[in-house]
Amino acid sequence: MLHVAVVGSGPSGVYTAQSLVEQSRVPDVRVDVLDRLPCPYGLVRYGVAPDHEKIKSLQNSLRTVLEHERITFLGHVQVGGDGLPPERLSELYHAVVYCVGAATDRGLGIPGEDLPGSHSATEFVSWYSAHPDAAANSFALQARSAVVIGVGNVAVDVARILSRGAEELRPTDVPHPALGTLAGSRVREVHMAGRRGPSQARFTTKELRELGGLPGARVVVDGAELARDPAYAPVGAPADSPVPLPAVVRRNIEVLRGWADAPATGPDPMRTIHLRFFLRPVELLERDGRVAGVRFARTAPDGSGGIQDTGAYEEIGAQLVLRAVGYRGLPLPGLPFDPARGTVPHLAGRVLRDGVPSPGEYVAGWIKRGPTGVIGSNRPCAKETVASLLDDAPLLEARPSAPDPVAALRAWGLRPVEWDGWLSIERAEAALGQSLGRGPVKIPDWTGLLQAAHGDRR
Ligand SMILES: Cc1cc2nc3c(=O)[nH]c(=O)nc-3n(C[C@H](O)[C@H](O)[C@H](O)COP(=O)(O)OP(=O)(O)OC[C@H]3O[C@@H](n4cnc5c(N)ncnc54)[C@H](O)[C@@H]3O)c2cc1C
Ligand SMILES: NC(=O)c1ccc[n+]([C@@H]2O[C@H](COP(=O)([O-])OP(=O)(O)OC[C@H]3O[C@@H](n4cnc5c(N)ncnc54)[C@H](OP(=O)(O)O)[C@@H]3O)[C@@H](O)[C@H]2O)c1
Repeated sequence: MLHVAVVGSGPSGVYTAQSLVEQSRVPDVRVDVLDRLPCPYGLVRYGVAPDHEKIKSLQNSLRTVLEHERITFLGHVQVGGDGLPPERLSELYHAVVYCVGAATDRGLGIPGEDLPGSHSATEFVSWYSAHPDAAANSFALQARSAVVIGVGNVAVDVARILSRGAEELRPTDVPHPALGTLAGSRVREVHMAGRRGPSQARFTTKELRELGGLPGARVVVDGAELARDPAYAPVGAPADSPVPLPAVVRRNIEVLRGWADAPATGPDPMRTIHLRFFLRPVELLERDGRVAGVRFARTAPDGSGGIQDTGAYEEIGAQLVLRAVGYRGLPLPGLPFDPARGTVPHLAGRVLRDGVPSPGEYVAGWIKRGPTGVIGSNRPCAKETVASLLDDAPLLEARPSAPDPVAALRAWGLRPVEWDGWLSIERAEAALGQSLGRGPVKIPDWTGLLQAAHGDRR
């Protein structure tokens, strides 16, 4: 019998647990899935946009895994930091798989980045997703103009949420205070800016196209700006590049071309989304102690996918700036960490200490690969890690472990939220929504979540 701790209940943690209990090489593997939050599912609950109900519903398949008879969910168990040290956890289980994701933002490293009114997309996403670490009422949305820096799918998510009417978000699980703030939003212009061209944008076509279908919003792109990209050849012109463009780039360019060519008709929209390219942020501008805009260096393609500065600059006025330039893994004290990549060094999922695999310690998901890839990318990643772990099984079975790790966690002073506690949170969120005339509405604070989880047993 092998008893494995999986730290993190996001997609990579759940897929790791699933691979461990569904394989037949080592019988009788049991898995405890630990998470610092009282709620499971990681970024599927606290990142995937609330208006993407279909992707959100993936929680149902993750739930089925966590309800497996040989898997135990233990929420509100922080590993590292103020919580249980990794070395202590290693004493309780035959093996530990760290699936802790990438919890922070990458940062721009330019002047003015920390001005009031400038936020990472991570903070904005956490706020509308009701992450209990998000500061309450952190977004006043008094701004008329917002700049979103970056052209990845997270940039598209935050630009879309800023551009949607609150009524469209009412049927979702957005926390009630955030819904009120979004209803009072004065944002009219949303500028989303990429430092490279449309053919290097990281968004996917479905997500891009969705921006054009938002009620009350219009997308504006400048054909002349797009045409700086050699891939944006006029229809019928011979392709500039002898290398065929990836399908996603061709499709993105078709969508952008459609917007550039469309004449502006109909009444003035409530909000305008400006998609901008070849703008490298160099400084956030300040007025009266708050952010007042972004100064960009105008760039041009360098012929090999990169950019060079042209010497020209452009300023876009904005009272709100969201920096959507990628996530970043955090070091877990006690585990090795590669600061350049923001990941834990590994070999096929085995944690490397001083370049040597450390028996019993593994990684999967964003903390292993870095913060890219959709939910499904974590499945093969988890499988690779589990294959390494199973190869090591004879060694692991010989390691000491605790007969009852949950009792040991309690003895350490932790009060895990078990599956019943999570189901109580779900019921409390359904009841909260009902009292507000909405579907289930997320509880956005630690106290509320823990009260709901522990109920009378607290
Ligand atoms: C804003 C955003 C929106 C996204 N939307 C989509 C989408 O629509 N579709 C799609 O396919 N992909 C989407 N993705 C990508 C997808 O969410 C990721 O691929 C996936 O969540 C990564 O899984 P993970 O398990 O590695 O990390 P996470 O999902 O981040 O899970 C990590 C878990 O570890 C826990 N944890 C962290 N530290 C500790 C600790 N010290 N102790 C205990 N527990 C800890 C966290 O609480 C969390 O539950 C999105 C990503 C972001 C950032
Ligand atoms: N609906 C969905 O499926 C969905 C939704 C959200 C997220 N996700 C996935 O989650 C992952 C993370 O998404 P993400 O958007 O955070 O990251 P991302 O895809 O890596 O995009 C980051 C963006 O930030 C830009 N950037 C980075 N550093 C910059 C700098 N210093 N100055 C200006 N721009 C900078 C990048 O430009 P360069 O390319 O020039 O570096 C890029 O446009 C992705 O795999 C994404 O597909 C999926």
